Amino acid sequence: MNDRFLRACRREPVDRTPVWFMRQAGRYMAEYQAIRKKHSILEVCKTPELAAEVTLQPIERFPLDAAIIFADILLPLDAMGLQLEFIESKGPVFHKPVRVENDIQQLIPVDGESFAYAGEAIRLARQALADRVPLIGFAGAPFTLASYAIEGGSSRDYMRTKDMMFARPDLWHTLLTKLSNAVIEYLNVQIRAGAQAIQLFDSWVGCLSPDDYEEYVLPHTQRIFSALESKGIPKIYFGTGTATLLPLMRKAGCDVMGLDWRVRLDEAWATIGYDLAVQGNLDPLILAAPLPEIKRRVQRILAQANGRAGHIFNLGHGILPHIPVESVDATIEYVHQLSVREVGA
Ligand code: CP3
Repeated sequence: MNDRFLRACRREPVDRTPVWFMRQAGRYMAEYQAIRKKHSILEVCKTPELAAEVTLQPIERFPLDAAIIFADILLPLDAMGLQLEFIESKGPVFHKPVRVENDIQQLIPVDGESFAYAGEAIRLARQALADRVPLIGFAGAPFTLASYAIEGGSSRDYMRTKDMMFARPDLWHTLLTKLSNAVIEYLNVQIRAGAQAIQLFDSWVGCLSPDDYEEYVLPHTQRIFSALESKGIPKIYFGTGTATLLPLMRKAGCDVMGLDWRVRLDEAWATIGYDLAVQGNLDPLILAAPLPEIKRRVQRILAQANGRAGHIFNLGHGILPHIPVESVDATIEYVHQLSVREVGA
C-alpha cells in the first residue's frame, strides 16, 4: 500500500510529502456532478454503494495519497431528529433547530445502529480501494455541529450559538455532551468498519476566544478523542481561523493538527510543538491561479515544512466547485516532485 499518508501522520520519514484535499470528492469533478444529477446529496451519503463510488472518484482520477469517505458532518444531527435538508443555493437547513431546553431534551439518542450505513460505506470503499491508499473517516466536532443545530443552518456571526453558550452554560454543556456522544458513536462505527485515520472537523471554532474555547469546548473535544476505539490510528483535528487557539486545540489529544492558510506553517508548527504532525495549508483559492503561481505557493509551504517528518500537504479548507481539474492534477504533481527525498537520508 502507498502508506506515505499514515507514515507522515506518525511523523515517520517518507519518500515524498503525502497530499490529499478536503472535499476532494465534489462538484469540481464531472464524475461527481453526473452522480448528483440522479441523486440528492443525502441519498449519496446514505446509500453505501453510491458513497463508496464517489469516494473512489478522485482516487481514480488523481495520484492522491489518501481517500476520505464521502459523507457529511451534519448526518448525526439528522439522525438526532433535526430534519436536515440541503437546499440548492442556500446550503444545509435544519427544520427543527435547537433553541430551548425542551429541544435538547427531545434529541433522539443515537447508537451504532443509527450509523449502520456509514460502516457499510467504509467497508465497500476499503474493498474498492484494495489497499491502494488509506481511507480517512470523519465527523464534525461538537462546537461546529452545535452552531448548525442552533442557528438552523450556516451562519456568519454565530449569534444564537454564543447566546446559549454565554447565557445558559448549563444547556450548552448538556447539548455538547449529547452531540459528543453521537460523534463518538459515529466515529467508532467508522473505525470498526476499517477507517485507517479519522478527522474531526471543527470548521467554525475559530470564532471563539481562547478562553471561551478552553471553557466551553475543550472538555468535549478531549472526551471525544479519548473515547475513540482508535487502536493507534491517527487522529486529525481541523479548524479554520484557529491561529490563537492552536496551543489549546493540541490539548484535545490529536496526533495531527490541521492548519488553515491564515497561519504560516513553520510558525504554527513551532507553536504547536514538533511532537505533533501538521496538515495544510494552501489557500483553496490558489488553485484558481495560474499554474506557475500554484507551484510557487506549493514550494513555499514545502520550504516551511523544511523536510521535517510529519507534514501532510492539504488545502487550508475544502476545494471549491470552480477549480479546474488540471490545477488539481498539477498541484499534486508539484507536491510530489518538489518534495522527493531519500528515506532515511
Ligand atoms: O472531503 C470529502 O471529499 C468528503 C466529503 C465531505 C462533504 N462534506 C461532502 C459534501 C466532507 C468532509 C464534508 C464536511 C463538511 N460538511 C463540513 C466540514 C468541512 C468544511 O468544509 O468546513 C461542513 C461545514 C459541512 C456542512 C455542509 N455540507 C455545507 C455547509 C454544505 C453546503 C455547502 C455547498 O457547497 O453547497 C454541505 C454539502 C456538501 N457536503 C457538499 C459536499 C461535496 C456539496 C453539496 C453538493 O454536492 O451539492
